[in-house]
Amino acid sequence: MVAVAILAAGRGTRMKSDLPKVCHNLGSLSLVERVVNSCFTVDPLRCLVIVGYQSERVKKSLDGFSGIEFVEQHEQLGTGHAVQQLLPHLEGFTGDLLVLNGDVPLLQPDTIKQLLETHQTHQNAATLLTAKLPNPQGYGRVFCNEQNLLKEIIEDRDCTPEQKQNCRINAGVYCFNWEKLAKVLPQLQANNDQNEYYLTDAVGYLDRVMAIDVEDYQEILGINDRKQLAEAYKILQTRVKDNWMQAGVTLIDPDSITIDDTVELQPDVIIEPQTHLRGNTVIGSGSRIGPGSLIENSQLGQTVTVQYSVVTDSIVKNGTRIGPYAHLRGHVEVGETCRIGNFVELKNSQLGDRTNVAHLSYLGDATLGNRVNIGAGTITANYDGVKKHRTEIGDRTKTGSNSVLVAPVTLGNDVTVAAGSTVTENVADNCLVIARSRQVVKSGWRLKSQSE
Ligand code: UD1
Ligand code: CA
Repeated sequence: MVAVAILAAGRGTRMKSDLPKVCHNLGSLSLVERVVNSCFTVDPLRCLVIVGYQSERVKKSLDGFSGIEFVEQHEQLGTGHAVQQLLPHLEGFTGDLLVLNGDVPLLQPDTIKQLLETHQTHQNAATLLTAKLPNPQGYGRVFCNEQNLLKEIIEDRDCTPEQKQNCRINAGVYCFNWEKLAKVLPQLQANNDQNEYYLTDAVGYLDRVMAIDVEDYQEILGINDRKQLAEAYKILQTRVKDNWMQAGVTLIDPDSITIDDTVELQPDVIIEPQTHLRGNTVIGSGSRIGPGSLIENSQLGQTVTVQYSVVTDSIVKNGTRIGPYAHLRGHVEVGETCRIGNFVELKNSQLGDRTNVAHLSYLGDATLGNRVNIGAGTITANYDGVKKHRTEIGDRTKTGSNSVLVAPVTLGNDVTVAAGSTVTENVADNCLVIARSRQVVKSGWRLKSQSE
């Protein structure tokens, strides 16, 4: 029986931010979301998150999870004080309690599983994750005997210069026998440099506490300031990109590319330099994305190409070419083998197969059939100043250059719109529409010069 507690009540002063530290994003997820995610592997009976500083924002950041219990720590008097708040909530609980700092976002689920297994096999009162860091500054130092049984944890600021030489640090990730911890929690005192109640002191009061080193110290890096946040992002990016390369994705100049860990790529995708893939994006095999593109929350089919373009909240089907310099946003759906070309913006529009919008267009709130050709500079006037209206365009219809389609308006199948037209009324199938004033030519006409 395992319960999980995540400490997320602190402000995170060192971030110098109005936003609580654990709500800062690392890629597409906040720090605390990542910590919660890493715990599911142990199938916890309960998941308690201790909140305090701007608790509403922290709770909101965890909206996506069900079954989380929030425990208020009204005054933030330290990590030990935070865990003390659990006493009334876990009364009578007899299992193990996994405690994690909310600012340790790179933990791998397997590491947590191993921590729990070691804890249970050795029947420890507590087991904690440690690592030897090249730069241990700022972390609590862990002192053990040869059997890795804990003697003491001393916070960086409370260490003597000699104690600071010890580079084995406390990760802030612990597994406790709850009944034993509950007994020592009330004994905590705040006689340290920060006048706080330290959870690490409670660890010191227990009789059999084991420390285990993680294999990869990068997993347990705690985020206290923006620099550490940026370092963690780099580590996360390396992890994500290495995985995709192993899975058969080509990254040209990986350092210039960023990929959220929520993105899915199929084999033989090629990502060109300066390209950023975000959110719930999926890209099908054989697609070539970039250079210079941003794809966010979008599903791209197979053999799609995108150059110097931004695609958000959209679906693009197989074989379609996007860009250079196109912008798809707000629920666009583009069919197969289409071409969305230079300087084209599509918003909340659905396009059939083999339809082209090749140059200089804005299509908003429009539905286009198959094999439509939108001429250079065609614009949907979808907004009357108050409301948005739709434009419907049938199969094989062609619009001439610089035409304006004033919505709401419907063009049938096989319609041809003359260049320069302003179309304000519906057009039936198989029609030519010319909606512009006739050209007037006055022969033999010349501007009189003033001297004449
Ligand atoms: C803590 C550990 C340190 C360890 C390091 C690992 C203590 C005393 N020290 O130090 O040994 O090496 O983590 O990263 O535990 N929090 C609350 N309520 C509070 C105070 C903090 O919920 O009253 C939360 C914070 O939101 C944060 C976490 O606890 O998520 C850790 O707090 P932080 O102040 O960052 O502790 P460190 O100084 O890093
Ligand atoms: Ca910390």
